Amino acid sequence: MNKNLGWNNVSSWYDNLVGDEGSEYHRFVIFPAIQKILDREKENIKNLKIIDLACGQGVFCRILRELSIKEITGIDISSSLIRQAKKRGSDNINYVTADVTKLLSQNGNLKYDLKSDYYDYLTIILSIQNISPITPVFKAASKLLKKGGSIIIVMMHPSFRIPQYSNWLFNEKNNRQERIIWKYLESEDIKIITNPGKKASGEKSTFTTHYHRPIKSYINTLSQFNLLTYHIEELITHKKEQKGIKSEVIEKAKKEIPLFMLIVAKKI
Ligand SMILES: C[S@@+](CC[C@H](N)C(=O)[O-])C[C@H]1O[C@@H](n2cnc3c(N)ncnc32)[C@H](O)[C@@H]1O
Repeated sequence: MNKNLGWNNVSSWYDNLVGDEGSEYHRFVIFPAIQKILDREKENIKNLKIIDLACGQGVFCRILRELSIKEITGIDISSSLIRQAKKRGSDNINYVTADVTKLLSQNGNLKYDLKSDYYDYLTIILSIQNISPITPVFKAASKLLKKGGSIIIVMMHPSFRIPQYSNWLFNEKNNRQERIIWKYLESEDIKIITNPGKKASGEKSTFTTHYHRPIKSYINTLSQFNLLTYHIEELITHKKEQKGIKSEVIEKAKKEIPLFMLIVAKKI
């Protein structure tokens, strides 16, 4: 299947979901965690050059513009999402439609006029699990980053949130909310409905692929390209449970089991 097609088919749905400022998960969980990393830059923040791979409709690029980042580039394979990104305003943002697994030519040079050893940060937000293979992505990331620059990846937690292979289970006997996982180490391409809820409203569901990989695949592939992991955050959902008999124990589990993971690796 044409990789581009899945996301083009759901571009309006995704654009509505994310809007100008991001989905709930973006606003309450993911962006604050990335902001903490960028805050370490203090006064230097306005001099940064940042590239966002698989940028979708450009939500993080717009956040970076709010932070007055000096140079912002967003790349996505979906021409429709890039169109939506531009519609939402592309002043001071350079958008490119491209497959991030193919940013390097056969002789190892960057395509699309992208500069090597140039960016301070490279971000991949909620997308790495939609991308395969990851080896050429991390190879290109290493080329794009300047020495000492960092790649920040935010993903669904590979250990605790594996579509079709993980779930919550209430253990009545012990009055405990448990997270159960029944497959982890083996990588697997999992077909998922991208736009849940559409079916109920009579509209067509579209499938995309979730590429499940264990954590070691990410850390070890990054290090093949001199991208050394130095910081990990394991992020819990912000969503609160409605008051009920079980709500207290469910809340407790939600605070213990992280559903997102953030990895930061430095080009050495
Ligand atoms: C869940 S969306 C996340 C988009 C954005 N980062 C955000 O946080 O809203 C996943 C994105 O990955 C993009 N994508 C998937 N495979 C890609 C590839 N090979 N190259 C570039 N983008 C890709 C899709 O087009 C889609 O925009």
